[in-house]
Amino acid sequence: MAVETSCDETAAAVLRDGREVVSSVVSSQIELHAAHGGVVPDLAARAHLEVIGPVVEESLSALPGGWDAVDGVAVTRGPGLAGCLLVGTAYAQSAAVARGVPVVGVSHMAGHIYSAWLSDVTLEPPYLALVVSGGHSDVVELRDHGDAVRLASTRDDAAGEAFDKAARLLGLGYPGGPAVERAARTGDPGRFPMPRTRLDGALSFSGLKTSLRYAIRDLGAGALTDAGSPRDPAVVADLAASFQAAVVEQLLHVLGTIADRRGAERIAVVGGVAANQALRDAVRSRFAGLPVTVPPLSLCTDNAAMIGAAGWQRLRLHGPDAPGVAVDPGLDLYS
Ligand code: KG4
Ligand code: ZN
Repeated sequence: MAVETSCDETAAAVLRDGREVVSSVVSSQIELHAAHGGVVPDLAARAHLEVIGPVVEESLSALPGGWDAVDGVAVTRGPGLAGCLLVGTAYAQSAAVARGVPVVGVSHMAGHIYSAWLSDVTLEPPYLALVVSGGHSDVVELRDHGDAVRLASTRDDAAGEAFDKAARLLGLGYPGGPAVERAARTGDPGRFPMPRTRLDGALSFSGLKTSLRYAIRDLGAGALTDAGSPRDPAVVADLAASFQAAVVEQLLHVLGTIADRRGAERIAVVGGVAANQALRDAVRSRFAGLPVTVPPLSLCTDNAAMIGAAGWQRLRLHGPDAPGVAVDPGLDLYS
C-alpha cells in the first residue's frame, strides 16, 4: 500500500509483488488552486487531510482482505511541501504501526523513475531516464535497483516549471503544461524563433522564458489583453507551439548526447512533462532503434503506484532497516 501527498494530489495505491497495480486512486486539487494561479501550500495540506482517509480506503477496497492483506506501507517523504508531506507520512506511519507492518519512506524522484519500471514489465536496470516534472529536469541512470546516479540537471527552472510560466505569460492559466500543449496543437512552431539552448550536460530554460516574454512584448500593446497576454488565439497557438518545440528540442539534445556517450541501451521518460505528446513522439523517433519506455499518462503525473514500486524495492533491499519516514522537503535523491 502506498501513499503520496507531496504537492497537490492526494494519492493511494495497492500493488501486488511491487509491480502489479491492484488499484491507484488520485484525488486532484486542481480546482482548489486554479483560482490562485498555482499551488497554495496551506490549502493543499488541509485538503490532503480531508481526503487522505477516503482515498486510502478506496484504494484498499480493490484488495480482497483490505488492510489485513497489506504487508508493507510506502510513503513519499520528500521532496515536496512540508505540510503536505507531513499529512501523508503521519497517516502512513500510524496505519502501519497499528497493523504491525513495516513502513518505508520514499523519495518522490525515485518514485518517478520507478513509474517506468512499473509500466513496462520488460524494463530492468540499467536504464537512462529523463525526469521532467514541476520541480526537476534531470537525466538519471538507474544502474541497479536502489543505485541511481544523476548525469545532468537544470541550471535554473525545471521543464514543468517552464511550461507553467509560459502558460501564465500566454494567459492560459494553471496547470500550465497541458494548457500549452493544447494551444500548441494548432500552432506553427516555426513562426516565433526561440533560442536553441545547447549546454553540455546541463539544461536551462530561463533564456527561453525571456524570449517568450520579449516575443509577446514585441507584438505591441494593441495586441495584448489588460493582463498582458496575446489577444489573438492564433498568435497564442503559434507562441505555444514555438516554445514547446524549443523545450522538446533541448531535452532531446541533452538526453541524446548522454545516451550516445554512455551507449545507453534502454531509455525512459518520466514525470509530469512526459505526458506531453510532442515530447513522447520526439523521444520515440530520436531513439527509434532502442527500447523506449514512456509510462501511460496516469503514471507520468503524480500518483502513489510509482511510490509503491520504489518502496517495494527499498523494502526488498533493506528489509526492516529500510529508511524511515522522516519528512525532508528538500530531499534530492533518486535512490
Ligand atoms: O510530476 P508532476 O505531476 O509533479 C511534480 O513532481 O512536479 O509534474 C507536474 C508538472 C507541471 O509543471 C505540469 O505543468 C507539467 O508537469 N505537465 C506537463 C503536461 N502535463 C503536466 N507539461 C507539458 N505537457 C503536458 N501535457
Ligand atoms: Zn512528481
